[in-house]
Amino acid sequence: MSIVLGIETSCDETAAAVVTSDKRILANIVHSQVEAHRPFAGVVPEIAARAHVEKLDGIVARCLDESGIRLGDVDAIAATAGPGLIGGVIVGLTTAKALALATGKPLIAVNHLEAHALTVRMTSDIAFPYLLLLVSGGHCQILLVRGVGDYRRLGSTIDDAVGEAFDKTAKLLDLGFPGGPAVEKMAQGGDQARFPLPRPMRGRDHMDFSFSGLKTAVRKATSGLEQPPTRRDLADLCAGFQAAVADVLDDRVGRAIDHCRASGTALTGLVIAGGVAANQMLRSRLTETAAGRDLAMTAPPVALCTDNGAMVAWAGVERLQAGSTDPLDVAARARWPLDADADPLPFAGVKA
Ligand code: KG4
Ligand code: ZN
Repeated sequence: MSIVLGIETSCDETAAAVVTSDKRILANIVHSQVEAHRPFAGVVPEIAARAHVEKLDGIVARCLDESGIRLGDVDAIAATAGPGLIGGVIVGLTTAKALALATGKPLIAVNHLEAHALTVRMTSDIAFPYLLLLVSGGHCQILLVRGVGDYRRLGSTIDDAVGEAFDKTAKLLDLGFPGGPAVEKMAQGGDQARFPLPRPMRGRDHMDFSFSGLKTAVRKATSGLEQPPTRRDLADLCAGFQAAVADVLDDRVGRAIDHCRASGTALTGLVIAGGVAANQMLRSRLTETAAGRDLAMTAPPVALCTDNGAMVAWAGVERLQAGSTDPLDVAARARWPLDADADPLPFAGVKA
């Protein structure tokens, strides 16, 4: 059995966890910086990096303390090395390098997207290959997960990530930050049919996404309302927005499952991961999408969908088992696609 310490600092969570190869989370501490960023209704990179510097050492110490494991007893030190806000990534990776140097334990430079992609293998029993819908604040992709370090990107957003669309919608409607949970809450009981919003890319013969038009449509619908909008208006708009997102995800994922089958890939299931996978309505809708094609949908528990250290530690466990560790001069990367061979998307403003 091996034990890995994982560190996550790529966005606005300062997090550390200790995880074992037999899938036990011994400690998992997530410090959200949401209060520091709230006045700006979005994550400010400079504030994030400074806050990671202030908090990380204490969080690692508390995490080890809670886990009952001494630093010298871990088998490896894993940290997110990208993609993400580079200042924060450098803070976490440099801390991990220092700990690895001091203890003589191997360093594992984890791709944040791979950490999201593999989390379900810690929380459920799922074998490769599976289809992954990775939906977060910075990413919206459909990937075929063939193994550790072995990904094929089938589709990606050509503009906004879906979490970004949630966040921008929440900002527009003045619902607060972070936007995803606020929109989900406001949508409850709303009439999703009142505002006819577009379903960008639905029915197209590829597996890419686009969300910027949906955001613009929400803005247009809002400007046609009396100001300030009533609670009913807000609920109906949020329900309409969520329904549009659900329809698009359902369509794109359904197409991807069909594509995999047509090309002879025997999928073990559909997995959704990343912060937006915390959304209950989308979870149940994608469960139906998968069931309609005789597949099971698996997602991490809600608390492990948004950024955390356990997902990084687990990716470290998987990497360690694959014999993949990194030298101490490994670089932090702002961009780091999971599928380096994927064709570039034929549009501007692409998120890797
Ligand atoms: O994975 P994550 O914590 O950070 C990134 O790697 O980006 O994802 C954060 C994103 C934010 O855009 C947030 O609004 C969204 O996930 N999110 C949600 C929900 N919870 C978080 N979106 C929709 N519904 C939710 N319940
Ligand atoms: Zn993330």
